Amino acid sequence: APEQDLAGLRMLVTAGGTREPIDPVRYLGNRSSGRQGAAVAAAAALRGAKVVLLAANIDESVLAGVRELAGVRIVPVGTAAELEEAARAAAAGARAIVMAAAVADYRIAAPADHKIRKEDAPGQAPTLTLVENPDILVGLVRDRIADQIIVGFAAETVESEDELLERGLRKLARKGVDLLAVNAVGWETGFESGENELLVLDADGHVVTRTAGSKRQVADRLLDAVREELRDDLT
Ligand code: C5P
Repeated sequence: APEQDLAGLRMLVTAGGTREPIDPVRYLGNRSSGRQGAAVAAAAALRGAKVVLLAANIDESVLAGVRELAGVRIVPVGTAAELEEAARAAAAGARAIVMAAAVADYRIAAPADHKIRKEDAPGQAPTLTLVENPDILVGLVRDRIADQIIVGFAAETVESEDELLERGLRKLARKGVDLLAVNAVGWETGFESGENELLVLDADGHVVTRTAGSKRQVADRLLDAVREELRDDLT
């Protein structure tokens, strides 16, 4: 068993990707598998933390390994609004928050209450009107409790590592988090794979960790950075 260096730490972890309904049978979604966030929850529990994992549309095959761990409670959520409500409820009891979920920036303004059928408007492609979702992470930072460590994620499509760092620094300033985990994503990398590469920035914009490997290994290095932020006052 790994060292219990997070013993008793109450954590909130979000993972997966939200789905925003278009009608009762369709949604706007994203390609997040939830693997990285689930790996953070599992690694934290194995180090002694008590974790609430808000799981947005994560496949059971990804959750199976987490479900058997004593230290994790899994709460399923669907939309960004559901994720926000559950995150607010759980945040007050969490010393550390890791927001790994891919939250939809927009939702459908008025989802149809019946299936949209093409025979109802032949030859007329429908127009989807979107409205912006609240930034859950920014809300949690605004309402943070004393000594809470808040970690955001930034998945970016970039041309170079310089651009990745630059986008990370700008996101850090916008979100006000203690740590930002930045990774490059694209058609081939990041989302569905078992491997990941992360840069972790602290609130001053310093790169505190640069790590690559399995999502579990990466999760442990990220948790090392969280542990470091907590200093020695872990109780
Ligand atoms: O701005 P961007 O979506 O790249 O920010 C990513 C970070 O912000 C992630 O930690 C994600 O969970 C969080 N986020 C959020 N609410 C949103 C959008 C993103 O909490 N509406």
